[in-house]
Amino acid sequence: MTESGFVIIDGNELTCEEGETILQAARRAEIEIPTLCHDDRLTPAGACRICLVEIEGSNLMQPACATRVSPGMVVRTVTPRVDRNRQFILSLHLADTIQDRNLAEDNSPSRLHDLAERYGTSGQWTPVSSPRQGRPSDDNPYNQFRPDRCIACSLCTRYCDQVEAVSAITLAFKGARTTISTADERPLTDTTCELCGGCIDVCPTGAMTEKAALAWGKPERELEKVRTTCNFCGVGCQLDLNVDRSANRVVKVTSPPSGTTVNDGNLCVKGRFANDFIHHSDRLQEPLIRNEAGELVPATWDEALERVSEGLLGVAEEHGSDALAFISSSRCTGEENYLMQKLARAGFRTHNVHQCAAT
Ligand code: SF4
Ligand code: SF4
Ligand code: FES
Repeated sequence: MTESGFVIIDGNELTCEEGETILQAARRAEIEIPTLCHDDRLTPAGACRICLVEIEGSNLMQPACATRVSPGMVVRTVTPRVDRNRQFILSLHLADTIQDRNLAEDNSPSRLHDLAERYGTSGQWTPVSSPRQGRPSDDNPYNQFRPDRCIACSLCTRYCDQVEAVSAITLAFKGARTTISTADERPLTDTTCELCGGCIDVCPTGAMTEKAALAWGKPERELEKVRTTCNFCGVGCQLDLNVDRSANRVVKVTSPPSGTTVNDGNLCVKGRFANDFIHHSDRLQEPLIRNEAGELVPATWDEALERVSEGLLGVAEEHGSDALAFISSSRCTGEENYLMQKLARAGFRTHNVHQCAAT
């Protein structure tokens, strides 16, 4: 049991738990504090400084994402000084990346540009030509790192370390040269990287992005998201197919935001990147049944289901229900597996039902 106390944020007296941050307490009260380098799954880094708020009795503003509340603390998140800081920080980051939002969002959306539109800036500053470099070569098929868009927020490296637990990427060099790299600047495929793409998902600027979607050439905001369940295993991760309707094509897969679905914003390499099969020319598009010559020919779903049902009923009638067995796949959803056992038990009166994950 944690100790609780009161904190006052923007005049609202809120109950807070020991160890809670100002950001967490504010969010519970639906007080919005913008963040760039924060993710609920990761330990705070206090790197971007956009979430600075005023605390009574403190001369310096403090990062809401990394400052713990203490009983009686009085916090102000909407003051001219707080506003000035947000606009200053946004201008600073924008000067260090692609300023034009349309160019910046050539694939992934940019939270940095979104916040700049919502909170304003201190004016457009002259872009700085950052000496930040990428790795000399990286022929991995999925992840593209573009150093000119990186704001060194370290979300990607913290995600890789704390969620994926492989620490394949790291902050490298110092000062304006700070960049994202790997040990000895090796390609990702020559590191512990599992190509989960989580670093792409957390990146607030599109500096980490999907190679294939980038090559497709349509920004994510012009794609339609279709929520579905991943069919690679039985965990049931939710994912969003990003569909280009004009070409009727799935361009990429993204994870729903963390905290909203069972996979908490995470995906594995298969869920995020192995989607070529959707448009593969070998993929069955319609049911096939055998004709009298034993050749597979296209059929309607009604014809195919009729054929299956005739076959199963024929075996059950001639040899009894226990001559049948039903096997389903861990690639199906829990609901589909439930229906399979229901079909076996209630429809055909047999307990001969199995699923490959049970072996
Ligand atoms: S793809 Fe996953 S494992 Fe590889 S660097 Fe990014 S977060 Fe780390
Ligand atoms: S690549 Fe993206 S997530 Fe990683 S440090 Fe740069 S801006 Fe942040
Ligand atoms: S969100 Fe708090 S310092 Fe970046």
